[in-house]
Amino acid sequence: MHTVIEPKILYFGTSIVLISTLNPDGTPNLAPMSSAWWLNRSCMLGMSGKSQTVRNLLRHGECVLNLPSVDLIPAIDRLTLLTGSDPVPASKAERGYRYEADKFGIAGLTPTASHAVAPPRVLECPVQLEAKLVRAHPFEQPSSLVALEVAIVRVHAETSILSAQGSSYIDPAKWKPMIMNFCEYFGLGDQLSTSRLAPVFGPAASLPASSAPADSNS
Ligand SMILES: Cc1cc2nc3c(=O)[nH]c(=O)nc-3n(C[C@H](O)[C@H](O)[C@H](O)COP(=O)(O)O)c2cc1C
Repeated sequence: MHTVIEPKILYFGTSIVLISTLNPDGTPNLAPMSSAWWLNRSCMLGMSGKSQTVRNLLRHGECVLNLPSVDLIPAIDRLTLLTGSDPVPASKAERGYRYEADKFGIAGLTPTASHAVAPPRVLECPVQLEAKLVRAHPFEQPSSLVALEVAIVRVHAETSILSAQGSSYIDPAKWKPMIMNFCEYFGLGDQLSTSRLAPVFGPAASLPASSAPADSNS
């Protein structure tokens, strides 16, 4: 039996992304978010325009999408209810947010230089995706939400999550993403079965990413 409900949010479970951007004074900002989806070498980020991250991206156009594994939940927790915006926007202050200039320091995370963009990577994250803003799509007017389309320009992966040394394939059995399911943290369960799509993109496929077919997520 089903019933009609009026949920406040529809966060059915997505990976957490830790976005690093540059503040106007050149210091790095760091923010957790989870409304992100992926298509080929692009990512769409759903964010409040009141966040410092969006301001930084619209001004400077560069970011790193750092993907934490489940063991970084304490660091994400330390960044929760913090903003790099000073003064704190009224709507955030009402919800208990406070300003924090040193997000890396308070999270206990280590900034490390990127290759193709200015914002730093998060050393502790097993996946670090350097990215550039393609365009911003206004979302659900008159709210401040915006969907930011970014192109991934460099992919860094910890060697322990690769299928083999020197491989460009991230082994799904080794990668342990942190999932936000509604507003709680989860990991993934065990693999349930094999997929007939896997061989198309798996270690056997030797196509370089740039020559993958345009609709390669389907
Ligand atoms: C686990 C988690 C997931 C979040 N997901 C999002 C999200 O998808 N979009 C968003 O705008 N804010 C999200 N937030 C809230 C932002 O982190 C928050 O707005 C923060 O103040 C942004 O930092 P900034 O203002 O320094 O950019 C999330 C927070 C947490 C802890």
